[in-house]
Amino acid sequence: MDSSRIRYPSSQQSPRRTRLLCSFFICLSLLILTILILVILGFTVFKPKKITTTVNSIKLADVNLSTGGVNVSIDVSLTLNNPNKVSFKHGNITTELKHRDVFLGEAIVPAGEIVSGKTQEITVTLTIFAQSLVTDTYIPSDLLNGTLPLSTITTVSGRVVVVKLFKHHLVSKVLCDIWIGIKDRKVENSNCNYKNKL
Ligand SMILES: *[C@@H]1O[C@H](CO)[C@@H](O)[C@H](O)[C@H]1NC(C)=O
Ligand SMILES: *[C@@H]1O[C@H](CO)[C@@H](O)[C@H](O)[C@H]1NC(C)=O
Ligand SMILES: *[C@@H]1O[C@H](CO)[C@@H](O)[C@H](O)[C@H]1NC(C)=O
Ligand SMILES: *[C@@H]1O[C@H](CO)[C@@H](O)[C@H](O)[C@H]1NC(C)=O
Repeated sequence: MDSSRIRYPSSQQSPRRTRLLCSFFICLSLLILTILILVILGFTVFKPKKITTTVNSIKLADVNLSTGGVNVSIDVSLTLNNPNKVSFKHGNITTELKHRDVFLGEAIVPAGEIVSGKTQEITVTLTIFAQSLVTDTYIPSDLLNGTLPLSTITTVSGRVVVVKLFKHHLVSKVLCDIWIGIKDRKVENSNCNYKNKL
């Protein structure tokens, strides 16, 4: 049947259409309002804040010297802080160990989560074995000099997700220069630089 032939009295048609239009606009306004509130929350309460990594201490855990060389293990104690209103999920935390820009190895702290507003303490143990130092030409002279200069790079990378709408990638890096006294078997000095990115 051709619908154009059906005629409704105009007095009946108008209120129905008005009611329909009304509920449509109410729905639209509610939707816009909800989006607006979410956006405002996203830029205020849930605005991403940088994850920070702080080095608490660097200690020499072990030094074994022999004619074969030296084995050294270092404990780096770190505090991670998540100031965000939501959890921070991070991947593997890696700490690279270098000696005069030569890569010696890395330690991995498994992926995890830091809940909102909390801190987490982690200790990374880095071990250098004599074997890996054979190819490193500077080690003998450094050992004779009595100071072994090392550097570490710790990278924490992950993200915060706010109601599946706002995802922010956050990276925190710590670069430390460490000087180890061979004779007194101590960390003589250390200096750390922090880089936190949103
Ligand atoms: C260093 O560690 C390696 C591997 O564990 C071991 O074979 C070697 O004897 C160690 N050397 C010293 C001086 O402790
Ligand atoms: C040093 O030697 C001790 C005893 O042999 C061993 O338990 C320790 O793991 C060694 N440390 C390193 C860094 O090789
Ligand atoms: C995280 O570390 C584990 C164990 O070391 C490794 O098997 C895994 O592949 C790492 N994951 C990533 C994404 O690198
Ligand atoms: C020897 O060690 C001292 C610190 O104990 C350092 O200032 C100096 O640069 C080192 N020399 C070499 C050649 O590494």
